[in-house]
Amino acid sequence: MTRLALIIGSTRPRRRSDFVAAWVEETARRHLAGSVIDFERLDVADFGLPLLDEPYPAAYGMPYRHEHTRRWSEAVASYDGFVFLTAEHNRGIPASLKNAIDYLYGEWAHRAAGFVGFGGSGGVNAIAQLRGVCAELRVAAVRPQVELGAFTDMATDDPADVDDLGRMAAREHQAAALGGMLDEVVALAEALRPLREAHGPVPADA
Ligand SMILES: Cc1cc2nc3c(=O)[nH]c(=O)nc-3n(C[C@H](O)[C@H](O)[C@H](O)COP(=O)(O)O)c2cc1C
Repeated sequence: MTRLALIIGSTRPRRRSDFVAAWVEETARRHLAGSVIDFERLDVADFGLPLLDEPYPAAYGMPYRHEHTRRWSEAVASYDGFVFLTAEHNRGIPASLKNAIDYLYGEWAHRAAGFVGFGGSGGVNAIAQLRGVCAELRVAAVRPQVELGAFTDMATDDPADVDDLGRMAAREHQAAALGGMLDEVVALAEALRPLREAHGPVPADA
């Protein structure tokens, strides 16, 4: 069984990530129907992570001091691959997502990843930044990425109303783009299995 997690990186109240994540989940489940792939939501907001408060960098392989780190570590290490859902905050990934990534090290190694970005320009700057972070952590990223535009793949009834968060109105090609990206993530996650098995679930310095 190959296990994939949809990592939701923005944790702010009234985030749009909720309705974008719902679209990704529904579209992915339809695409993966009939396969033996587990596709689960892994929401950074559920882990209550403060700003990184472990006394040693995770790359040192020391036991974690805090329960919130152990919970996050156990969850991340249980997956074979990830789909990062990232909003774009000031041309980068949300600080909450970077913070959550930095908590861990070996838990990320030799896993596959794909990206769904969203924002005014489809989250392309956030995804570009995330690709560099993944390279450092030995997360193998696939080339295809899904770029959901705030003005092209979402709709609002009243753009002047700050309380109208809007909803998904994804262009037709986006579901196929997500499916193609998922297929590559699954293939890469499965190809990397021998490396994960050789290093154990949480290699200290893979
Ligand atoms: C702090 C902040 C900075 C933002 N900067 C950008 C940006 O640089 N580029 C962009 O396209 N959208 C930007 N936006 C708009 C976000 O893409 C949009 O608000 C989106 O809903 C954020 O995702 P979230 O609601 O799940 O946090 C920014 C939003 C916030 C809150």
